[in-house]
Amino acid sequence: MLGNFSYCNPTKLYFGKDSLKYLNDELPKYGKNVQLIYGGGSIKKNGIYGKVVEILRANGKSIIDDGGVMPNPTVDKLRDGIKKARENKADLLLAVGGGSCCDYAKAVSVSVNCDDDPWEKYYIRFEEPDCETLPVGCVLTMVGTGSEMNAGSVITNHESKLKIGHVFADEKIMPRFSILDPEFTMTLPHRQMVAGIYDIFNHICEQYFSGGDDNTSDYISEGLMRSVINSSRIANKNPMDYEARSNIMWSATWALNTLIAKGKTTDWMVHMLGQAVGAYTDATHGMTLSAVSLPYYRYILPYGIAKFKRFATEVWSIDPNGKTDEQTALEGLAAMESWMKELGLAMNITELGANADMIDGLADATLIMGGGYKVLDRDEIKNIFKACL
Ligand code: NZQ
Ligand code: ZN
Repeated sequence: MLGNFSYCNPTKLYFGKDSLKYLNDELPKYGKNVQLIYGGGSIKKNGIYGKVVEILRANGKSIIDDGGVMPNPTVDKLRDGIKKARENKADLLLAVGGGSCCDYAKAVSVSVNCDDDPWEKYYIRFEEPDCETLPVGCVLTMVGTGSEMNAGSVITNHESKLKIGHVFADEKIMPRFSILDPEFTMTLPHRQMVAGIYDIFNHICEQYFSGGDDNTSDYISEGLMRSVINSSRIANKNPMDYEARSNIMWSATWALNTLIAKGKTTDWMVHMLGQAVGAYTDATHGMTLSAVSLPYYRYILPYGIAKFKRFATEVWSIDPNGKTDEQTALEGLAAMESWMKELGLAMNITELGANADMIDGLADATLIMGGGYKVLDRDEIKNIFKACL
């Protein structure tokens, strides 16, 4: 039975070639001071920065420059951004980049008018904002996280070796608008492109591998997974294929904009394991997920055999005839493994910089979730990490 839920997603999307021009429609809705949030410089090299600045100037905005948001944004950078927004009385936070810029913008948004320490309030105590928040807009240049249409924000604290995501309950934390031009993603290095593709795929898995009921969300998920696999194979061979890149971009948004989680408990343990690896190694998010996925899924498979069999037959077209359910399910994971290798994803945490001495720390940094097929204990988590080395 599909559980009860409410559904509201207020983010307005502009999708396709030349969609940046719609920034002109959005900017008049906000005040004069725009905090322009971007990363380490890719948007200056590929010309997107210049185009955005031109539109901001044409709309009479004052620009508060806030570059240097690193992949896996840190709490220290967040504190700088909050200071900038306060000192310059920001009216709009405009993130131009990937999930890191977008997540960071949301974290600044909920913190500008908040007297508490943002790390403690939002990422340790998981509280909701009780202050006025700032609107966030996004021009997406890297595909994968879905941050362009959700209320998630992941921040890393190097001091306490924790990387924690907060999915805010209030829809007003979602970007007010997001501009998605697939051509803006064409300058991504191959490694970032495939990391993003696996991030999308795993977001779908995290929601799919829970529950045993018949529900619409799982059928939508299977369609999205098939689309991602198909387009990823085309983009892997020819990254300039617009059709494939546009399908990947659109799938990423739907993979994590709350729709396919509706009526489901959802798992999220691959992300919890991956985030612990991220906190220790600062590795690329999608690669931390690919490196831990197979040992985790092979371990929990016996507890969710019916769904893993369905995954094999519906997503990977494995023929179940003459096989036990377990054999079919394992063949599905084997098909997934060979696709991951074909893309060139990280297949273990050693190549990301983790080692056996970190296992205890990684287990400490892993939040345990209860929505999947097996609630793990600490020893099980340690064993999974050992299998990921
Ligand atoms: O910093 P610059 O120079 O811009 O370079 C970036 C960065 O190095 C580069 N890049 C982005 N667009 C580019 C480009 N390079 C060339 N051409 C372009 N068009 O790509 C690198 C990675 O960017 P980043 O924003 O860090 O990647 P991603 O979008 O994967 O975001 C990762 C962050 O999002 C969090 C992750 O944990 C991580 O901190 N997540 C957020 C989620 C959410 N809000 O719901 C869910 C996800 O599961 C994820 O946890
Ligand atoms: Zn992710």
